Order: sequence, then C-alpha cells, then structure tokens
Amino acid sequence: MCGIVGYVGSRKTADVLMDGLKRLEYRGYDSSGIAVFHRGKIEIRRNEGKLKKLEDLIKGEGFDGKIGIGHTRWATHGRPSDENAHPHKAGRVAVVHNGIIENYLSLKEFLKGKGRHFTSETDTEVISHLIDEFIEAGSSFQDAVRMTLDKIRGSYALGILFEGDEKRLIAARKESPLVIGLGKGEYFIASDIPPLLPYTRDVIFMEDGEFAILSQEGVKVYDRKGEEILKEPKRINWTPLMAEKGGYKHFMLKEIFEQPRAVIDSIRGYLSEEMGDAIFEGIHLDSTSLKEIRRICLIACGTSFHAALVGKFLIEGFCRIPVEADIGSEFRYRNPILGKDTLLMAISQSGETADTLAAMREGKRRGAVTLAICNAVESSLARDADHVIYTHAGPEIGVASTKTFITQLVVLFLLALRIGRELGHLSLDEGKALIEALIKIPHQMEEMLKASKEVLEIAKKYLYARDFLYIGRGINYPIALEGALKLKEISYVHAEGYPAGEMKHGPIALIDREMPVVVLATRNEVYNKMVSNVEEVKAREGRVIALASRSDQEIVKKADDMISIPETHPSLAPILLTIPLQLLAYYMADLKGTDVDQPRNLAKSVTVE
Ligand code: AGP
Repeated sequence: MCGIVGYVGSRKTADVLMDGLKRLEYRGYDSSGIAVFHRGKIEIRRNEGKLKKLEDLIKGEGFDGKIGIGHTRWATHGRPSDENAHPHKAGRVAVVHNGIIENYLSLKEFLKGKGRHFTSETDTEVISHLIDEFIEAGSSFQDAVRMTLDKIRGSYALGILFEGDEKRLIAARKESPLVIGLGKGEYFIASDIPPLLPYTRDVIFMEDGEFAILSQEGVKVYDRKGEEILKEPKRINWTPLMAEKGGYKHFMLKEIFEQPRAVIDSIRGYLSEEMGDAIFEGIHLDSTSLKEIRRICLIACGTSFHAALVGKFLIEGFCRIPVEADIGSEFRYRNPILGKDTLLMAISQSGETADTLAAMREGKRRGAVTLAICNAVESSLARDADHVIYTHAGPEIGVASTKTFITQLVVLFLLALRIGRELGHLSLDEGKALIEALIKIPHQMEEMLKASKEVLEIAKKYLYARDFLYIGRGINYPIALEGALKLKEISYVHAEGYPAGEMKHGPIALIDREMPVVVLATRNEVYNKMVSNVEEVKAREGRVIALASRSDQEIVKKADDMISIPETHPSLAPILLTIPLQLLAYYMADLKGTDVDQPRNLAKSVTVE
C-alpha cells in the first residue's frame, strides 16, 4: 500500500525523502513523488513507475528547502499515472496520503461549486483543496488542517505542507499507520519504521484522530479537538542492518535464511521446560479465564490465514476447544455468531490489514475477548486488541511473508501448549516432550536451509511447468496452501493447494505427464493415505516432488524428486515443510526473473479493503 515519508531538518531534504521512499518500496507501489521547498515555493516532482524514474527526474535539482514530503502510491482511486501520483497540490497546499477518503465525491462536488479545478482522479486531491479553501477563508494552517480532518470520512495517514509556512510540516493519522521519528534537531514521519532507522530509533506512534506539527524546534501532537497531548517516545531495538539485504540477492532470500534465528527469538522467554509449559505474561490464560471460553475464532488474511489453519489443528489437538479459522474479509460481513465465551485471535504480520482489523473490531463489538498475534509493534491491531503477543521476526521487507509466517506458527504452538496444559488435556510429560521437540526446531531448520541447492535443482527441472498442484493432509494441508500461494505470488506460475483427500473430487483431472505435484507426506497418522495419493498421481503419469520424513522407505521409491525432512513431532512438521516450499517459490521466481521482493500488483501491507 502507499508509503509516506516526511522530513524537517538540516540535511538535504530530497535525499532523505528518496532514501526513505526506497525503504518503503517493499509496501508495493506504482508511482512516486516528492514535494520540497525551494526558494520559498513548494516544488513537486512525481511520476508513474519505479523510484529510479523519480530519481532521474530530480537529479541535479538543487532544492534548498529544509522540509519536504514524499510518497509511493499504490493505486486505489484513479489509474497509475503522473497526474494521479502524489503529492497533490491545490493553491498553496501540498498533500501526501495513504488511505481512502470515502466521501470524496460529495466533497469534490462541493469544492467544484466553489470554483475549484481538479487535475487528478484521486480521492486525495479533495484534501489539499479543502485545506487551501479554509486557509483562503482566513484560517491558520493548523486550524485549516483540523477543520479538514473533521470533514473527511475514511482512512488516512497524511503529510501536509503549506507554502505560507516554510518551517512546519503537519501529519495526521486515522486507520493508516504513521510514525514520527525523533532525531536531534531533525524530525521525520513515515508509514513504517525502516525509513527512520538510519537516523533515529526514538519514535512516537500516532493514534487514530491525532495530528502532529513538526518543525526544527520539535514535535507537538494534538488530539482531534486540537488539544495538545504529551506522548511517550518509544525506543525501537531494530538496527538499520536488520532492514538491509546483507549480501543476499533479495530480501526474501535473506528472510528465509533468518528463520532459525527468528524462531529462537520467538520462543525465548516463553518456555518453561520444567513445567512443560509456555508462559505469556500479562495475558490471562489461567483456568478461571479459560473456563469461560467455549470457542476460539482465528481470523487472518493470506499467509497469516494459513497460519490460522495450522493453529486450528494445534489448538483443537492440544486443548479440545472447538476452533474456527476464518478469512478476515469473509468474517466481517457474515454476521458471525459470537459473544463473551469466544476468544478471537487475529493474526497479522503487519497488524494493519484492513479486513483483519475490521473483523477483529466486529468481534470485539459483539463481546468476544480479543488477542492479536502480530509482528509490527504498536500496530493498529496490537493497539485495538485486549491482549497482544508479538512474533519476534524482526522487519520483513519482502512482500511475500516468510519469517513472520514461521514465527506465527511458533506462537500458535506455544499458545496451544499453554491452553492445553492449563485445561489438563496435556500432561506434564506431554508438555515436556513438545518443548523438547520445539527446541530442536531451529537446528533442523538450518539443516533444511543447507538443502537449498537441491531445491534449486528441482526449480530448474520444473521451470517449464505452467501449473503446480500442492497436496497435504491434516496439519500439513495448510502448508500445501501456503506453498501454492508463495509460488503464484512471486513467480506468477499458477498453483493450487488442496487437501490430498479432495484430489479425486476434481483436481485429479488436471494430472498428466506435464503436471508437477508437490506432496507433503511427513510421518503422521495419515501417512498411508498420502502414499495412496502418490500412487494416484503416478498412475496418471504426474510428476511427484515429495517432501517426506528422512526415514521414509516408501514414498522415496515412487517420487520423481524427494526432499527429506528431519524427524520431528507431527505438530511441528509444518515449520520444516515450509522452508523448501519457500525456497522452491523463490528459485522459480528468480530463474524466471520476476521482481521477487515486490511482485506485480501486490502490497506488503493491505490497508484497504
Ligand atoms: C503473503 O505472502 C502475502 N503477501 C499476503 O497474503 C499477506 O499474508 C496478507 O496480505 C496478510 O497480511 P498480514 O499478515 O500483514 O495481515
């Protein structure tokens, strides 16, 4: 989704803005632009396409201003074009915006009635016109912004400049992320943390309805009525290096290789080995609170939804509580039945996914207890939920979720363990055995990563394929969905994930000698059924790429290609199975030459419906 940056300070403003926009590229965009003061006037440069084009456009420009705003646009209202790219300037006001203004049509009519002329198809342009209109009518810059915020409906993160005030930048937020960076005599705004990291790690997270005024003297934050509020800065412990490629060809590859470390960080502090249990401080998962819970709903989108599906198997298996896993965009509109006896867990790496957020709010409105599992600190989801558990994956820049998915699986495993122990469905010995298996996982993941060359060879062999089928059963079935999603989103190869038992109800018709079928068949209670599925594929001359346990004796004889998976507890097999599937998708995409980290049409954080 769109990315915003802003700067007030004494560095070369255009350079700071361009650097910040590059660090937001992962969010996905189709055009970009900056607005910088120069000789007292706001200069705008913007165009459709990649940031390189904008960089070429501003090369050699000697902007002298110490204040500016920048934007990467992911089109919602109006096609990607130079005219629709932000910043949008009306009169003396320039604006960058992330979000959607729902009542922009009526505002546009109103403004046209005042003789205002529009030059873009965007919803954003009404904001610059409205502010300018209020200023022209005699309001101060600050009041004009506040009155405009009262008039617009929808979601926004905004950066605003006014030609009559070369010293101040105004930022505002409602339902779209915005964070302020606090340097020494210099201040920043950004849609996410990475643009701030080269300059500062002290930040203020803006809340819905707040607006802030940044100048070289400091930052002042106001509530929606215009009353000043004191906000406690937070310190971010990410280093700038964590958000850089570190020698890898792509962020996605780096992030795949970071996964063992991410798992260690995600289990550290949560395990009690002697008690065979997990500890979540501050979250009421004791028997009194849990006795009230009759049902658990897991809500998420995309890859996070696949984690939710794995969570369903884990929680039902360990805790014997009925669990529903649902997609945010479906849940929010299906008039769900829930109340005080429902624990609603919303899972999201970004914590800003509009559908997940709305679904959780709907659940809360209907009385459910809410728990957010997310990676982005202080995200909207984290702030709105009754409880939060953070996955400690660190910044994930590649659009395809990798390490955040793995850490979601780990947190769901630990949560299921905690609830299962508390309710007495898991004994001390069972708890200890599960923890013992979990502790081995980071090392086993390293082993899987060492097999990356074998995966590369498989990718080369099947590069011709236009379609892939991924099948698995039980807790491995969501990983078949995830493997297929990874492949299609970054390599643009069509792939379907299916529960293996469903194959004969339709997808088997697709199988012929051209069709690679990725079979997830680690040892568990449905292993023999998977062997039969392999037979069915081979009988139709399909190609089997099998992911089976190291000790496997049967599938290995039938498969065309085999990736062996270290022995683990069946409930942890999804973690190990995911790694070769991520690598397969990565290598297929890289060999095809697609834009791995920023696949076409996709955005890292989907903040609109
Ligand atoms: C994952 O590879 C995708 N790009 C996408 O499906 C993503 O998982 C989905 O948009 C949900 O995002 P979230 O975890 O930030 O809520």
